[in-house]
Amino acid sequence: MTIGVQRSGTWQVCLACGNEMVETDPHPRCTRCGGLLEVEHRPPTGQELLRRFSERRGAGPGAAASGVWRFKEIVLPSATDVVSHPEGNTPLLHRPALDRWTGLSGLLLKHEGHNPTGSFKDRGMTVGVTQAKRIGASAVACASTGNTSASLAAYASQAGIPALVLVPGGNVALGKLAQSLAYGAKTLLVRGDFDDCLRLVEQASEQLGVYLLNSINPFRVEGQKTIVLEALEQLGWEPPDWIVLPAGNLGNTAAFGKALVEARTWGLIDRLPRLAAVQAEGAAPFARSFAEGFARRHRVKAETVATAIRIGDPASYDRGVKAIRETNGIVLAASDAEILEAKAAVDAAGVGCEPASAASVAGVRQLVAAGTIRPGDRVVAVLTGHVLKDPGILLQYHRDTDPPPAGANRPIEIEPTLAAVEAVLQGR
Ligand code: F0G
Repeated sequence: MTIGVQRSGTWQVCLACGNEMVETDPHPRCTRCGGLLEVEHRPPTGQELLRRFSERRGAGPGAAASGVWRFKEIVLPSATDVVSHPEGNTPLLHRPALDRWTGLSGLLLKHEGHNPTGSFKDRGMTVGVTQAKRIGASAVACASTGNTSASLAAYASQAGIPALVLVPGGNVALGKLAQSLAYGAKTLLVRGDFDDCLRLVEQASEQLGVYLLNSINPFRVEGQKTIVLEALEQLGWEPPDWIVLPAGNLGNTAAFGKALVEARTWGLIDRLPRLAAVQAEGAAPFARSFAEGFARRHRVKAETVATAIRIGDPASYDRGVKAIRETNGIVLAASDAEILEAKAAVDAAGVGCEPASAASVAGVRQLVAAGTIRPGDRVVAVLTGHVLKDPGILLQYHRDTDPPPAGANRPIEIEPTLAAVEAVLQGR
């Protein structure tokens, strides 16, 4: 259905063919050409938006003060019955040890692991599940490398909607799988990889009538935009030079680009930071396309220790290209060894994050070494998930790898005696 954009405050538009759809249309893709959708709004601009955002900051319990719904005008203005934990309001951290490690003078870390289920996915899911409820979805579903499923499981159970999650069996971090079970989602361990799961769940949404809540769903993207908005707010709306983030399926890269362009259009900032999207070397089809000037889309068989971004055929490719082009951004890849080293540095600084998140810090170090980021540049790196998401990789690194890596902190087994404790203290 095509609607007149003037008649609605919010609508959906196809990136590929420009087809417009009403905001309550449940189709996950364009009904005319199958392209990816974007949500568009007509918010008030500039000072009025800033006034509303800051008024709601710290306002009472519940959704009003959520780090997503504080920005309601540019997320989903028409939402009324909101399903919120609440979420967001995550810190912007600075650790001198990580300045030294990356070669910067003031690296800021936006730590999305501080969200209720421990990843940035909650910001998109509060909007996605709110929309699911609004359109009367009988069930919701997603394919996931683990975090989306954990988040969907939590928000769907809060909303009282049955949830189905499809994950690549054997390649989901323990904490994430445990969450999905705990929150009560029907959890399918698919004998295949993430790309197989996504194909399957798209078919299920088309043929079995479940509402799709992968980041293909444009309402997820709207929620994830608030990572950038909140970071800009924390910087007094003075944009940094760079925003660096890990990239897998490219939903978040798309959300960041959209948030920045809109923030400029609506008078919240006067210039755009550059985006740097960091993939894992063994799962880097987007980095490969970027290196060829986005001449063509690549698909790979993905393999990396950072299971969250073990994705070979990113669904939001077109949106990702748009985000990188519009922000004069770049795409790069970090090896598993670089990712694990960056993770050890983030962990040892007392911050902690999951492996995929550390790709952003590994990327910063690479870009500083290459002279692309200058030591005095203002840089925000996004940590997408909590350190406890992937305890398996931690124990492998610290306890089980032989010989121990440089940063390994071996646990020490002792007899139950004070002498044994003292011996450890004295380094004997
Ligand atoms: N970091 C973490 C911790 C993630 O879980 C993901 C994606 C990303 C980065 C990359 O974001 O896909 O938008 O480019 N996780 C998805 C999931 C795929 O199913 O949890 P992206």
